[in-house]
Amino acid sequence: MEKHERPLPTVLTIFGAAGDLTWRKLMPALYNLYLDHWLPDRFAIQGVDVKPMRDDDYRQHLRDGVDRFSRQGKSDDAAWNDFATHVSYLPADFTNPDTYTRLAHSLAAHDQAWNTAANHIFYQATPPRLVGPIVEQLDRAQLCRERGRARVVLEKPFGRDLDSARTLNRMLGNIFDETQIYRIDHYLGKETVQNILAFRFANALFEPLWDRRYIDHVQITVAERIGVEHRGGYYDGAGALRDMIQNHLMQILCLIAMEPPVSFQDQEIRNKKVDVLHAIRRIAPEQVSHTAVRGQYAAGWIEGQHASAFRTEPGVVPDSTTETFAAVKLFVDNWRWQDVPFYLRTGKRLPARVSEVAIQFRPVPHQSFPASAVIDWHPNRLLIHIQPEEGISLRFQAKSPGLMMRLNPVEMQFHYRDAFKGTPPAAYEALLLDVMLADATLFMRVDQVEAAWDVIMPILDAWNAVMPTGFPNYAAGTWGPEAAEVLIARDGRSWLMPTAVTDPLEETSERR
Ligand code: BG6
Repeated sequence: MEKHERPLPTVLTIFGAAGDLTWRKLMPALYNLYLDHWLPDRFAIQGVDVKPMRDDDYRQHLRDGVDRFSRQGKSDDAAWNDFATHVSYLPADFTNPDTYTRLAHSLAAHDQAWNTAANHIFYQATPPRLVGPIVEQLDRAQLCRERGRARVVLEKPFGRDLDSARTLNRMLGNIFDETQIYRIDHYLGKETVQNILAFRFANALFEPLWDRRYIDHVQITVAERIGVEHRGGYYDGAGALRDMIQNHLMQILCLIAMEPPVSFQDQEIRNKKVDVLHAIRRIAPEQVSHTAVRGQYAAGWIEGQHASAFRTEPGVVPDSTTETFAAVKLFVDNWRWQDVPFYLRTGKRLPARVSEVAIQFRPVPHQSFPASAVIDWHPNRLLIHIQPEEGISLRFQAKSPGLMMRLNPVEMQFHYRDAFKGTPPAAYEALLLDVMLADATLFMRVDQVEAAWDVIMPILDAWNAVMPTGFPNYAAGTWGPEAAEVLIARDGRSWLMPTAVTDPLEETSERR
């Protein structure tokens, strides 16, 4: 994970270069890497897409995206004009072998001009159905044969279920070595998600308390205010369990629950994470209704704005049974976590955009204060704020000022923004740079993907077998269906109200 120097000469080919992901995420990230001097001098971005466009029009289109979404604000002419000389566009059909012949020529031309054998990164920012055809063509054109030089970057979803993920992974495995494959889970590129490792393993204070003896339960919430926007077609075929829990929330769980790594080598971190996935208790089919809850939003109001029902969103079928909310209770069966519940929930059209991990500690074993002192008494709680505000806060008891002994909860807070100044790099900046540096720590290895599918398969199967009754079952602007409250209330607990405030600018800029 250490970054000492800039990457070697690189040509980054983006399939789906005219799409939303490239516009909102990849190009602003690349531009910021350029501004911060992370890109090598010999660097080229080759966009490929079916839309006819000339190089200049393409660059202007990208600049509009950078001006809207870059964390460093609008581009200035001099910097942009220089950056843009590294960018070109190839209007071409992804399935036509001729496209790859042209690509091969262009790659060879760069090598010749730069007098080196540059690294080749092939980024698939395309719909998943195109992944197979593109990698097959790359293979046929012999563009990925040199393991040390060629890498392929894939966006989720990695399959729709365990079987399709295995099929996809087999197909990739026939063409690439696993070390060439970078499967993106953009949550792993977020600063605060990465900081979980630093917090846990760079401080002596917390790790001794980080187990079943001191921790009562863990809550992981990823709430979104937005609906499905223009992605109704994709989302209606996916749902919250596939779209968020199988990947983003499960990865956060792994970072919270993993054992200390021996080193920060990518394989070591990934091994430790996969151990967690293997230790998650498999859910018996008859347990699913007590373990998982699904919901779908009806119309409602969010901050005074009317929000339509999921079933009326563009691209969604009018009688859709897809879940836009999912809550799951999981256990990690090992010495550290036995019987500590991990409650995960995520949903669209919730009241706020907030991602948070709450570590709820157990109460003190013996209460020595008089009853009058502890009227407002709460066990310790550690909150890891992932977004929109990035930080950590710890709640503990303190004596209220005054002549009486009264205890009150107080909060110790750390805000990234105050502590380190400046905006942290966006997730895609970290991830793109890591691909260029061939550091796979923050990427999903084949066995991680499959193990995560394996965990949620009983829920998917049970939900597929029985259509949900009562959908839609929560109004936009509320915290999900009542059944989610019941899921946790059954254990004598309740969901914590997330504390962070929503940053509307961030929210709209995160979509693809
Ligand atoms: C994506 C999901 O992976 O993550 C989207 O497909 C979701 O549905 C998004 O909105 C959330 O990402 P972030 O970074 O805004 O929390």
